[in-house]
Amino acid sequence: MFFLGGGSNVLFTSDFDGLVLHSGIKTLEVLVRTEKEVTVKAGAGVVWDDLVQWCVDNGFGGLENLSDIPGTVGASPVQNIGAYGTEAAECIVAVHYVDYETGLAYSLSKAECAFGYRDSVFKHALAGKAIITSVDFVLNLHPQFRLDYGDVNRAVEALGGASLVNVRKAITGIRRSKLPDISELGNAGSFFTNPVVQPEMYAQLQTIWPDVPSYSSGDRVKVPAGWLIDRCGLKGFVMGNAAVHKNQALVLVNLGGATAAEIVELARYVIQTVFEKTGITLVPEVNVVGSEKI
Ligand code: EPU
Repeated sequence: MFFLGGGSNVLFTSDFDGLVLHSGIKTLEVLVRTEKEVTVKAGAGVVWDDLVQWCVDNGFGGLENLSDIPGTVGASPVQNIGAYGTEAAECIVAVHYVDYETGLAYSLSKAECAFGYRDSVFKHALAGKAIITSVDFVLNLHPQFRLDYGDVNRAVEALGGASLVNVRKAITGIRRSKLPDISELGNAGSFFTNPVVQPEMYAQLQTIWPDVPSYSSGDRVKVPAGWLIDRCGLKGFVMGNAAVHKNQALVLVNLGGATAAEIVELARYVIQTVFEKTGITLVPEVNVVGSEKI
């Protein structure tokens, strides 16, 4: 069995010999409301950006930086979707699922979900075992805005200052200027995760490129993979019908008619080129399903 959300982060490399499940649970309800916050339960089949829009419309803060991310609510905890300084895990308080084999229903607390950067228990101990049915989020009625990532603050100021509506508008605008629209150019968002390396490896990178950017990640250093791919000269690189996107090197695109094999070949070429230059092995963020792996 394979649980498919919106399909926006999946690359099928062969036909899937099994049952594909897709959630039609579209419920959206407020469970608890206090002076400060609300707890919202969203069905796994709700389109992620519809949830964000609904939160913004109702004055619920927390998810606005995650505007315009394709996919469904049920997929959001699996890889702990994140963008512009926020991760879904910051607002998730519980994930409800049904066990594939027993049919029994379970609920996990946030701690039990073991969230990390693009990571959770659903990619490890519960991989292929859990059918997520709904997710509970705690949202703030007095929003605390996160504007410190990249150009977010500037874009929000240009719209007249911080509000849920303006942050959503700013993020949507930034995303659309950098990321290709999946309805026009096939892609799965970031194709690789940003590598988290030891400080020694980062120091070695600085000897190649003194201006290499970084984000702290505990006692290690997160390096933007898009920057590395870009510096390796691969931004806009075309291989058959597949290409490294011209505005964001972390995104691989289907120029039209690309086969999965072409995407896999390009991904391997990117991994090999970055490895030869830096010693870092990029890891796909995209869920590759089928006989051919990257
Ligand atoms: N950069 C370049 N060249 C490029 C791409 C990026 O120099 O071609 C530089 C940027 O200038 C910036 C840094 O690399 O200094 C980081 O770039 P960006 O802000 O675009 O973010 P990212 O690390 O490449 C991550 C997420 C995105 C998310 C953005 C914004 C991952 C794997 N990706 O990308 O998520 O939208 O941050 O927060 O963590 C996704 O997962 O599908 C996705 C799009």
